[in-house]
Amino acid sequence: MESPASMALVLLLCVMFPGGASAISAGSSDGSQRWGYTKPRHNVNMLWWWYRSPQPLRVSTPAKPWPTVLWLQGGPGGSSTGRGNFLEIGPLDGNLQPREFTWLKLADLIFVDAPVGVGFSYADHRSALVKSDDQAVSDLMSVVKALLRELPSLESSPLYLVGESYGGKFAVKLAVSLVKDIKDGTISNLTLGGVVLGDAWISPADYAVWYAQLLNAVSRLNDNAVGHVDKMGIKVKEQIEAGQFAAAQKTWTDQLDVIDSKSDSVNMDNFLIDTGMNPVLATGSQLLSGRNISQACQSALYINFDDIMNKVIKLLLKLIPKSIVWHEATLEVYELLKNDFMKPAVKEVGELLALGVSVTVYQGQLDVIVPAIGVEAWVRKLKWDGIKTFLSLPRQPLHYCDSAIHCSQQIKAYVRSYKNLAFYWILGAGHMVPVDQPYAAFRMIANATQSPGKTD
Ligand SMILES: *[C@@H]1O[C@H](CO)[C@@H](O)[C@H](O)[C@H]1NC(C)=O
Ligand SMILES: *[C@@H]1O[C@H](CO)[C@@H](O)[C@H](O)[C@H]1NC(C)=O
Ligand SMILES: *[C@@H]1O[C@H](CO)[C@@H](O)[C@H](O)[C@H]1NC(C)=O
Repeated sequence: MESPASMALVLLLCVMFPGGASAISAGSSDGSQRWGYTKPRHNVNMLWWWYRSPQPLRVSTPAKPWPTVLWLQGGPGGSSTGRGNFLEIGPLDGNLQPREFTWLKLADLIFVDAPVGVGFSYADHRSALVKSDDQAVSDLMSVVKALLRELPSLESSPLYLVGESYGGKFAVKLAVSLVKDIKDGTISNLTLGGVVLGDAWISPADYAVWYAQLLNAVSRLNDNAVGHVDKMGIKVKEQIEAGQFAAAQKTWTDQLDVIDSKSDSVNMDNFLIDTGMNPVLATGSQLLSGRNISQACQSALYINFDDIMNKVIKLLLKLIPKSIVWHEATLEVYELLKNDFMKPAVKEVGELLALGVSVTVYQGQLDVIVPAIGVEAWVRKLKWDGIKTFLSLPRQPLHYCDSAIHCSQQIKAYVRSYKNLAFYWILGAGHMVPVDQPYAAFRMIANATQSPGKTD
């Protein structure tokens, strides 16, 4: 039974943060970091965290301005300030040691916990959590506008929206929205550098129909099960085409369960390994599928996210309310997006290309949940007048032999590009490319953002 004292405490907590703090921000004394909460809507508090690249690395000329990368995590429900930052691209790794190939050497970095409810971003009432991609993007638009007020450097630093997995869909839709506001003059002091899509959740139908054949071709799916898994993929596609998005998500989840059982638990992030084999890798597709968040959270303990975020970082950032506990994944946020989760964003990518926005797609070779072959399938369908020429071009193999240290006999990646579209195939990488192939990811983002930073 709850004691009156504990009930009073609950009440007190509610009183302490009525509607959350209003927009607040803070920063390190040397100006190299800033963070804060913005309030896009009543009861919604979004946390952002900005890092400025250190001197003497940060060189900027009018011809080659220093870029800013805004990183959007997948899930929906994964936290950028935690996973993107400490697991993938931030200045410190999961042991709080310097990361050699941090993207901060190439760009200022911004991590935003989105949608609200994720990481340290919180809603004062559950009713304020988002139920659609558009709502999530509208909150992100407010965050970007707040960032323009908070970060003077943004005026002269082109902004690149980088989205991994489900974050890719947010990046695309956010870019469409930003371009509109920039065009009509609502936003006058931002240069949208481009959009970068990492193993992005852009066309679920094109992914679901490939799972069976891909896993069969690499000897990872029981050959007796191929037909069944294939049929389920076709059903996913049909349901999406019929606009039955929640039903499609259910079929897709069932399909993943069948794959799990008929492959003896292949890791959907990387077909070379099993579920749970690599605690870092095991989580990406689980975040995306919401299938076993408890397992995902357990694996996160392996690199001690809980200690980092709820002890070290919470203390450091000071303005996080006591009652807010950082979780690696928020299942509720995932579930509330069920009517939009399977909606594609291929049309929007085509719009961006037609508007001249730079679009870079990068793709881990070993990913299953977002398979390279499925990504190629939606790229082929892009309504953009450069697509035919793009598809006709050869791929350029990358050995990185412009770098004395990283020159390799072995091909590290392929790139194909034409006009404002570039596609990178990153070899030996699964769903989270910067985790598996940090140097190739570093080189990819250097080129995608035209960073004047040094790459070796
Ligand atoms: C951009 O414009 C807004 C609105 O006029 C202003 O509040 C903000 O300070 C400007 N930001 C930058 C980075 O110049
Ligand atoms: C999730 O994973 C945990 C740990 O492996 C397991 O105990 C639990 O039964 C799983 N839950 C579901 C719903 O599969
Ligand atoms: C770098 O980007 C340009 C422009 O998209 C492209 O033509 C080129 O192939 C890329 N090169 C590498 C090595 O990534």
